[in-house]
Amino acid sequence: MKELKDYVRTIPNFPEEGIMFRDITSVLQDPDGFKLAIDEMMDLVKDLDFDVVLGAESRGFIFSAPIAYARGKGLVPVRKKGKLPCETIEVEYDLEYGKAVLELHKDAIKPGQKVLLVDDLMATGGTIEAMIKLVEKLGGEVAGILVLMELKGLKGRERLSKYRLDSAISYE
Ligand code: PRP
Ligand code: ADE
Repeated sequence: MKELKDYVRTIPNFPEEGIMFRDITSVLQDPDGFKLAIDEMMDLVKDLDFDVVLGAESRGFIFSAPIAYARGKGLVPVRKKGKLPCETIEVEYDLEYGKAVLELHKDAIKPGQKVLLVDDLMATGGTIEAMIKLVEKLGGEVAGILVLMELKGLKGRERLSKYRLDSAISYE
């Protein structure tokens, strides 16, 4: 029987020399792979109490949406700069390759709300850290962080050691 990790395809040197790119398209296109991914992620947070799910553009949307739906919670998208139509707050952050700005609608998180942060992958932890900053700026509380994959070598877990972090797959 195939394990979840078996569905992930690895492409060396994409999008830059030296990066081992962990491709989720091979997970998503297989109905067993997609189901296993969502089931395993759901299982990791079955004991966690939260009010709302925050999903990171763009691969994070794919995993945050079914989790919010299955848990009966709302989904709040964190988007790259210039995509959200109402008043936003923003934060600049570094990626494994490059820099970007993330935005959140000011009225998307209410003070005291417990938020589950969801993404497909944690590399340096820069994206998750940026999401945390946005949530906390609005007075929300980070209930937990959930990712399909964690790249251990980039030390994101150490960077985010104050928070609960669950991952379904990890790579050394
Ligand atoms: C990728 C991935 C994570 C982030 C992880 O997103 O989906 O969000 O990088 O890297 P980090 O832990 O070093 O921040 P990317 O910004 O490439 O955007 P995409 O989802 O639109 O492909
Ligand atoms: N995002 C940041 N680093 C990545 C990697 N190594 N594979 C896939 N997505 C990524």
